[in-house]
This record gives sequence, structure tokens and C-alpha cells, in this order.
Amino acid sequence: MVSACSMAVDFGGIKMRNPVGVASGTFGFGEQFEPFFDVGETLGSVTCKGCSAVPWQGNPAPRLAELPSGLMNAVGLQNPGIRALVSEHGEYLRGLEERGCRVIVQAAGHSVSEYVEAVELYEELMPYASGIELNVSCPNVDAGGAAMGSTPEGAAGVVRAVRDRTSRPLIVKMAPVSPAEVARACEAAGADALSLINTIPGMAIDVRTRRSRVSRPTAGVSGPAIHAIAVRMVWEAAQACALPICGIGGIECADDAAEMVLAGASCVAVGTANLSNPMAAAEVAAGLAEWAASQGAASIDELRGGFIW
Ligand SMILES: Cc1cc2nc3c(=O)[nH]c(=O)nc-3n(C[C@H](O)[C@H](O)[C@H](O)COP(=O)(O)O)c2cc1C
Repeated sequence: MVSACSMAVDFGGIKMRNPVGVASGTFGFGEQFEPFFDVGETLGSVTCKGCSAVPWQGNPAPRLAELPSGLMNAVGLQNPGIRALVSEHGEYLRGLEERGCRVIVQAAGHSVSEYVEAVELYEELMPYASGIELNVSCPNVDAGGAAMGSTPEGAAGVVRAVRDRTSRPLIVKMAPVSPAEVARACEAAGADALSLINTIPGMAIDVRTRRSRVSRPTAGVSGPAIHAIAVRMVWEAAQACALPICGIGGIECADDAAEMVLAGASCVAVGTANLSNPMAAAEVAAGLAEWAASQGAASIDELRGGFIW
């Protein structure tokens, strides 16, 4: 018989009942999943779709292409803007917090000043959210469209600019580039936690039409195809800094989440799997608790970084 194991974790000051959440953009704002399971009672956290100060239209269709082992998306960070997020989903999200599920909002921007604007709006309109995540994978219009977080200086610059605008935990959602260097730079700039990884740029060509299968030449690959890469990047970031890490990338089952914990993640988020199996995050939460107990640990924290080599 296995004994119970405490699943509570502290993610950069955000106290979560368990380490399982959902990755930004793959779970909407949460309501659509309520018919499948009790989100507020089951998950440790919900990270909302990235929103900007003003609405963004995103890219034209087609935006999604299925790959043999994952998904490619060119959504282009379409979002209704923070004011609409609050008016349409604020009550539900406040309710999640009241039920013990931590709400993390995500800020998107095309320039450092747009991130500042987004964080200021969250401060004004969503004081009940437990943390603010910065999606530094947005294209930077001041730098020819390269992702803001594709360099340590770029990622740290966003953190520094918003750090004194909020006292809430600041999480950096890292692009899948130079994890050790970017992690150290974000830590030095005052971030409280890291989430990694975001999608990895890829291409899928329809050889009959010779066109891209989505509306852009390149798009973000997610799902099982990127899991091993994500585990490696979590491990490298965990070696490089003392910040807590949320492991993201191709998590479909509890074993995938357990790998992230062993690589050094304090918590995990289920992404693309939510789209094919709306119960995925709930199943991962239940299965991860079983795995932790089967390892004989008194708390999930004991297993963090427990990879043996
Ligand atoms: C349709 C879709 C929309 C996404 N939107 C966002 C977003 O708004 N902000 C963000 O940081 N990541 C976004 N992501 C990336 C995911 O949060 C996650 O980092 C990535 O998909 C890897 O995890 P997965 O393999 O479990 O999906 C999106 C991914 C998908 C598939």
C-alpha cells in the first residue's frame, strides 16, 4: 500500500494545492472545460490565454495543422484584450481563485512599453489573480519581429521594465532558446519564476499545392514531438538558476509530468493534450499524485530534480 504524499507547491510565491496547471492558449479562460471536470476543485492553477492591452486579430486561417506527433499553430496571439478578458471572464476567474485554484494571467506585447501597459491594466483590473506571466515569445516590432525573449538581454529587459509595476509574482514564459542564459538573466532582472517551453518554430508544406499548411511559412510546434526537448531545457534551466520552473511541452500523461519534476520542475502545465482530451489535465493531476506516492515521497517537492545520472 502506498502512503499519501503532499502535492502542495510554492511556485515563486504562488501557493498551489497541486503542481498541475494548464498552458496558456490551450485552455481558453477555463469555462469551456467545466462540463468535463471541476476545474476549480481539481487543478493547482489555470494560466489564461495571453492578452494585450488592446485586442489583437491574430493571423488568417488556416491556423492549425496536425502533425504525426503534435500540432502546428499560427494563431498569432489573437486575443480580445485585457478589458474584454475581465468583463467576459473576470467573474469566473475570481471564482476559481475562491475555490483554491490559482489564476495566472498572461501579458503579451509587441514592445517593452506594451508589456508595461498590459501589466498596469492587470494591476488595475485583476487584483485577484495570483500571478502575472510574461509571454516573451511575442514578436518585437522594434527589433525586426524577432521574439523578445530570444536573447537573455531581451527577456531580462521586459522583466526589468515591469518589475516595479507589480508586487505580484512575475513568471517569464520562455522561448525555447538558450535556456540556461535566459534563465540566469531573468533571475538577475527580478523574475520570481520561469515557465518553459513555448512552441518551437517549424514548417509543414503541402507538397501538392507547395504552400504552407498554415497561413504563415513557419509556425509553432507543440505536443509529443517537443516533449524530450522541453525536458532537456527544463533540466538546463534548473541547473542554471534558483528560480522555480513550470515544465511545459508535450505533457499527455502523468509519466510525462513526472519526468519534468525529476528534471527540476516545481510544477507542470498541460497544453496541446487539452485539445484532443479535455480530461488530460485532470488525469495528469490524479496520476502524478499516484506516482509521487509510489516513489515513497512525503511531498512532491522531495522528488524535484531527483533525476539520477
Ligand atoms: C493553439 C495554441 C495557442 C497558444 N497560445 C499561447 C499563448 O497565448 N501564450 C503562450 O505563452 N503560449 C501559447 N501557446 C504555447 C503553449 O502554452 C505551450 O507552451 C506549448 O504549446 C508547449 O506545450 P504543449 O506541447 O503541451 O502544447 C499556445 C499553444 C497552442 C497549441
